[in-house]
Amino acid sequence: MDRRKFIRNSCTACLSATGVTAVLSSCTATRYISGTLGKDGLTIDINEFVTRQQGKTAYRPFIIIRNEALQYPVCVYRFSENEYSALWMKCTHQGAELQVSGDYLQCTAHGSEFNSKGTVKTGPADRNLRNFPVSVAGNQLFIDLRAI
Ligand code: FES
Repeated sequence: MDRRKFIRNSCTACLSATGVTAVLSSCTATRYISGTLGKDGLTIDINEFVTRQQGKTAYRPFIIIRNEALQYPVCVYRFSENEYSALWMKCTHQGAELQVSGDYLQCTAHGSEFNSKGTVKTGPADRNLRNFPVSVAGNQLFIDLRAI
């Protein structure tokens, strides 16, 4: 087999294996909702985190709230039944909208990265993300946006 054919075959096999896995995992992990926007913040149903995997109840690690009344989305990470973080998806460097990649939020503008608590891990950003207070009441999660 010549060199070009080898590279083409290797790359095609590699891309199809990793590409399909990446697409499938991102489809199952990311859920976008609009939530209910009130005077002081957003309310979402806690069951938005629930999913089914192989017939069993599982929980999404995060959901993204994209509400047209808000300038940026809010990423809500679930750590346990009563522990969440709600992060303003605005990069603290120059304000680009962040992308979520598992436990990290990444900025495609200049490469800053933040963890699921909003702590900056990679610059050039040098400030943490806005992290809104979250409270749980029954099946509702309230995200206090008064600090925007
Ligand atoms: S705007 Fe995000 S790193 Fe520059």
